[in-house]
Amino acid sequence: MLKIGVAGKGGTGKTTFASLIILSLLKMHQNPILAIDADPNSNLAESLGIKQPKSLVEIVNEVEKIKNNLPYGMEKTKYLEIRVQEAIKEESGFDLLVMGRTEGPGCYCYANNLLREWMGKIEKNYKFIVMDNEAGMEHISRRTSGDLDILFIVSLCDKVSLRTAESIYKMINSLELNIKKVYFVLNEFPYKKDVENSNFPVPVILKLPFDHEIYKLSEENKGILNLSENSIAYIVVSEFVKKMISGRDV
Ligand SMILES: Nc1ncnc2c1ncn2[C@@H]1O[C@H](COP(=O)(O)OP(=O)(O)OP(=O)(O)O)[C@@H](O)[C@H]1O
Ligand SMILES: [Mg+2]
Repeated sequence: MLKIGVAGKGGTGKTTFASLIILSLLKMHQNPILAIDADPNSNLAESLGIKQPKSLVEIVNEVEKIKNNLPYGMEKTKYLEIRVQEAIKEESGFDLLVMGRTEGPGCYCYANNLLREWMGKIEKNYKFIVMDNEAGMEHISRRTSGDLDILFIVSLCDKVSLRTAESIYKMINSLELNIKKVYFVLNEFPYKKDVENSNFPVPVILKLPFDHEIYKLSEENKGILNLSENSIAYIVVSEFVKKMISGRDV
């Protein structure tokens, strides 16, 4: 199993990049794949162009609401264990799990512990896990172990965005998660620009061009799964994914 995470400031293209990785893995028949939307502002389903499923948080909330009216003899933890399976939505060629946003001050610690354990178990069933995160993965360790094989920090190419990406990197580093490799991905990379890897705290592994086809699809409310194989962003990401699968360079 290879577990990949994507982080970065809002609006830099995290979800688009995560979707492009998922699309590339699908086209290369690298199943089974689990896509996890761990951003409280979930938009991975929308970016892919599929229906938003019920989130894990919604399911936990439903269980909380009926905790005094559970089926006879059913313990709350057991019931939750059964219900959380609903959160894994089978799509064509991959599964999608949306974590959702915790509302209010309530921290269902029993649920978080159970979910961490459950996540650890289900993750073993997949060949690839692609997780779209909020900017700096602040809440990552609440419901998942926080272990990752590769973390990509996505940034736009201007100086302000790059400085923010660097702060995000430092912040993630201070969380002491178990992440094997961290890379930068520069999105909407200008054709003529050049980068010196020595200017970055971690290597820039990928320069993703602005893609008019992605822009057009989002104008038409269609998702990345509808991209053609001529899309320049898809070509760049799929070449990279090919290398990643064969263990070269990453
Ligand atoms: N390489 C690209 N070419 C063209 N459009 C792009 C590219 N990357 C991202 N976009 C567009 O930019 C917008 C923001 O991208 P995206 O939703 O992936 O960012 P994000 O970092 O996930 O944002 P958020 O923080 O809101 O979750 C989307 O409309 C997406 O279609
Ligand atoms: Mg996003």
